[in-house]
Amino acid sequence: MNAASSPPDVPDAEFRVTFGDGAGGFGCRPDERVLLAMERQARTDIPVGCRGGGCGICRVQVVRGPYRTGPMSRRHITAEDAMEGYALACRLYVQGDLVLVRRPAPAASIPARVTT
Ligand code: FES
Repeated sequence: MNAASSPPDVPDAEFRVTFGDGAGGFGCRPDERVLLAMERQARTDIPVGCRGGGCGICRVQVVRGPYRTGPMSRRHITAEDAMEGYALACRLYVQGDLVLVRRPAPAASIPARVTT
């Protein structure tokens, strides 16, 4: 097998998360939630709320790239939303470079205990 064609199966590898305009962005490991990767690098690209999938403030739409998600509140991400690439960044894992658009949930509410 040609090593150059092997998938990037390096545990510490980071993929790139950018936004619709291609500006800025940050690195994210495959085992790391996108929102926490952003915070680790002191970025503020996505609004931060509960960090637990409940408030909807970190809702984004993946417009390009492979990803997976953890459990998400159906209040903020319906089954139809999920089919269209909507996800909560605090439940979103990269599996390659991603391009996102910020789409806070219409019903999003910032919990009282939000910190910066
Ligand atoms: S920060 Fe609340 S749902 Fe992601």
